[in-house]
Parts: sequence; C-alpha cells; structure tokens
Amino acid sequence: MQPHARYIRDSLQSDNAPMLSKAAIAGKMRVLFLLLLFLCETQSHAAPRPNIVLLMADDLGIGDPGCYGNKTLRTPNIDRLAREGAKLTQHLAASPLCTPSRASFLTGRYSVRSGMASWNRFGVYIFTASSGGLPSSEITFAKLLKSQGYSTALIGKWHLGLNCHNRTDFCHHPLRHGFDHFFGTPMTNLRDCKPGEGTVFARAHRWLVFVPLQVIGVAVLTLGVLRCLGLLHVPPGVFICLLLLAALLLLLFLSFLHFFRPLNCFLMRNYDIAQQPMSFDNLTQRLTAEATGFIRQNAETPFLLFLSFLHVHTAHFSSREFAKKSQHGPYGDGVEEMDWSVGT
Ligand SMILES: *[C@@H]1O[C@H](CO)[C@@H](O)[C@H](O)[C@H]1NC(C)=O
Ligand SMILES: *[C@@H]1O[C@H](CO)[C@@H](O)[C@H](O)[C@H]1NC(C)=O
Ligand SMILES: *[C@@H]1O[C@H](CO)[C@@H](O)[C@H](O)[C@H]1NC(C)=O
Repeated sequence: MQPHARYIRDSLQSDNAPMLSKAAIAGKMRVLFLLLLFLCETQSHAAPRPNIVLLMADDLGIGDPGCYGNKTLRTPNIDRLAREGAKLTQHLAASPLCTPSRASFLTGRYSVRSGMASWNRFGVYIFTASSGGLPSSEITFAKLLKSQGYSTALIGKWHLGLNCHNRTDFCHHPLRHGFDHFFGTPMTNLRDCKPGEGTVFARAHRWLVFVPLQVIGVAVLTLGVLRCLGLLHVPPGVFICLLLLAALLLLLFLSFLHFFRPLNCFLMRNYDIAQQPMSFDNLTQRLTAEATGFIRQNAETPFLLFLSFLHVHTAHFSSREFAKKSQHGPYGDGVEEMDWSVGT
C-alpha cells in the first residue's frame, strides 16, 4: 500500500493543493479510487502463485554433487534438478558461518544490520539458551509470502536464536519470523550432539578445565613436598581449599558434559519439544516425512517449504540404508542420504 499512500500524500501536498477547490480534490480522490480499484483488479488476475521449495545444506562442497563434476559421489536427484532446471556457477554468500549467513539468506540484508554478525571466535550460537537471535523487526521472505497467503514451513535447522528473557517467550522462534510450521532444531547440529563424535569445545576444555586442574595438582604436590621436608609451613586449610577448587572444577566440567546434549540438542515441533535429546536415528527420514506431509497438506494453497538439512555439518550421520555405502566415508553417506531426501 505504500506507493498508493505516497500518491495520496503527493497529490494533496502538491504546490497548488491549497488552491484546489473541494470539487477538484474530490475529482482527484476519485481518480485515485479508480486507480486503487484497477490495481486490485490486476492483483486478483495475477499469474498463479508458484509453490516454493528451498533446500539448504551446510558445508557441502561445490565439487560434491555430480552435476558439478563429481564422479564418485552419487547424487542422481540433485543432478536431475540441475538438468531439468538451471545450474548456477557463481555464488556469493554473505558470510561463511551458519548464523550470519542464514540471517542474510532470510532477510536479504548484511548480517551486521540485524546484529547477527560477530567478531569473536565463534560467530554463531552454540547454546540454545543464548539470549540473542534474529530481531522480530527483520522482514524475512517467509513473512512476505505469508502476507501473500502462502502456507509456510521451516523443517530442519534454524540457528537464529530462540528466547529473549525466559524459556517460554520464544521471541526469536521461526514461528515469529513468518513460518506457520516448524519441525527441527532451533540450534544446529554439533559434534557434541552425537556421542562419540568429539567436541567443538576442546580448546575451552583445555584452558578452562585441564590446565587449571594441572596447575592445582602441581601446586598441591609442590606444597606437600616442601611441607614434608620441613622447608615451608603450609597450613592444612590451603590443601583443603585447593582440593575443593579442583573438585568444583571437575563437577562443573562433568555437569557440562552431562547436560549439554539435552539442553542444546533437541527437536521441536512448533513451540513444543518433540525429542530431547535429539536422536540421529532416521533423522533425515523424519525430516523428509514432515516435509512431504506439509506439501501434501498444502496441495491446494500456495506454499513455501524451507527444508534446511542437518546434513552435512558435523556430526556426520546417516541411516542404516546409507551408512558405509558411499566411497567417501560418513561424509559421503550423508551427502547420498540427503540426495535421497531431495528425490523423495
Ligand atoms: C567428489 O567428492 C568427494 C567427497 O567430497 C571428494 O573427495 C572428491 O574429490 C570429489 N571428486 C571430484 C572429482 O571433485
Ligand atoms: C516470559 O517472558 C514473557 C515476556 O517477557 C512473559 O510474558 C512471560 O510471563 C514470562 N514467562 C515466565 C514463565 O516467566
Ligand atoms: C529406521 O527406519 C528403518 C526402516 O526404514 C527401520 O527398520 C528402523 O527400525 C528405524 N530405526 C529407528 C531407530 O526408528
């Protein structure tokens, strides 16, 4: 409506507006009214609104799909999309990291403008309880399409924040950003979400836990030896304090290991927890079933489906049908499973 509003303002505030008689203004308004009617008419006769399906994968290399020249990874479904559609060879991303690049992808704006860029080491959210996220003032393409009568769904990974003040305000949730339906993880797929896949916190563990524990150990030993040799008077309280400090550090570390998965790696359906902690068993199959279900339910209305895979970010995973089937290890299995999903 903005252009019309501007037209009204311009036409009423034009230089000679004060000189216009009431009739002239009424005449102008009628022209305007017809113009609006005409615009409404053309809108209702507009071309049918196409359904939109966006598929997104993290960390997939340009040389991995067959349509970009790979001979050993099998991606027949992606290749067919490229063959029957268009294959682009120039791509610019607003950022190399999930949180800022997704913010830009959804809004079409540089991530610094929405506060989703960061200069520190991480640059992405690594805890669900982080209080930041995509501001509700941002206009996502989902919001625009929803306002045009589209049914909209995000299935898979979000990674643009969840709550502002408490665990139920959901101020950054996908449903606050134009999506009618959400199934997936509000965070991201991390190594720490899958037991046995290692951790992204290795450096933090070293500098915040292991090194301090070693320092405390060396201090206790040194003080103990000096005390035994009678070279230094060390009150027993010092040992107790140091050992308590070590115990506290160890307790915090073990709690972190124990609670990280349930608190950060879970699936939600809209505002409800769907699985906690999230299991990687048949995960792509479940996301795919949710996506095809959404498409079927909305066969009659125009829809936007944003399927944001958890593949092929680490932790790598695939179901039994795809595990150990590709020539490129767990990564290749993940790519081939994702291709299966594209074809489903
Ligand atoms: C195909 O993909 C695999 C896995 O990423 C990679 O190791 C290999 O070099 C690729 N082949 C070509 C020809 O790019
Ligand atoms: C969470 O925050 C929202 C908005 O600030 C508030 O309306 C709601 O009552 C809070 N809920 C709890 C459980 O504190
Ligand atoms: C995963 O799906 C397969 C069949 O597609 C089934 O045999 C298996 O039991 C499923 N696993 C889990 C954990 O649901």
